[in-house]
Amino acid sequence: MTTVYLNGSYVPKAQAMIPVEDRGFIFGDGIYEVVRLVNGRIFAWEGHATRMANGLDGLRISKAGAESATLKAVCEKLVADNGLADGEATVYLQVSRGAAPRTHHFPPAGTPTTVYASASPFKPNFAMRDNGAKGITLADIRWARCDLKTVNLLGPVLARQAAQEAGAYEALLHRDGMFTEGAATNSFFVLDGVLRTYPLSHYILPGITRQVIVELIRELGLPFEERPVALADLPKVSEIFVCGTTTDVQPIVTVDGTPVGDGKPGPMTVKLKEAFAKRLYGK
Ligand code: PDD
Repeated sequence: MTTVYLNGSYVPKAQAMIPVEDRGFIFGDGIYEVVRLVNGRIFAWEGHATRMANGLDGLRISKAGAESATLKAVCEKLVADNGLADGEATVYLQVSRGAAPRTHHFPPAGTPTTVYASASPFKPNFAMRDNGAKGITLADIRWARCDLKTVNLLGPVLARQAAQEAGAYEALLHRDGMFTEGAATNSFFVLDGVLRTYPLSHYILPGITRQVIVELIRELGLPFEERPVALADLPKVSEIFVCGTTTDVQPIVTVDGTPVGDGKPGPMTVKLKEAFAKRLYGK
């Protein structure tokens, strides 16, 4: 039986109930996080907690009941109680503005937020990480606050569906002629021997994995710029990878059916994939 967390209680999943007027359901009015655990230890908790707090502040949702220490303890307890403390797991966390009669503007002050969390077993796709995956290019139709990790995920939902229908893993989104990020990942490119990724801005999520990768790039002394890559430069791109909490470092070896470089994971990608695995697994 799976146990989940809802508003201060640990309950069997089938008994966890949310009012139909919850603003997460009606408006997508909430913030979420996905964290990764290896043998019961959360990877990069501080980064996730800070991003969630910034997201709640950004949407002006109360942080009461969603403090970093509370949510960290919830993650650890859910993983332990669901028998996931050995091996790999993910925890999904969500805070919505709570339930209230439908009005676009905020509900009365003091309306309690809805705080939900659930743990799941996780198995990385090591073969895909080693061999690379297919990507597609797609217009980034999302709103202009992609830095907030809101539960309003229609852009990514449609983009991932388009990728799946094309037999690909990820959609490489582009806005104003520049690659921004993946549907549910950050994207990195090697152009003229230099690693590049979109700079932090309202147009991308400040990925926690991205942050770790940037640290690793600096440690390894790889040539690097936080500078967008143009869609028009794709034919000259020699390596691509995408990264995220459930994606780690995932090489992209074809885009829209055309091989990237020699169609195999490139040398900088492989270096970072290995360095990242060391950080994640601590060996
Ligand atoms: N996705 N960009 C977008 C649009 C994302 O949705 C994600 C994460 C990332 C990577 O961020 P991080 O490294 O912090 O996971 C970048 C999560 C995992 C999801 O929606 O399931």
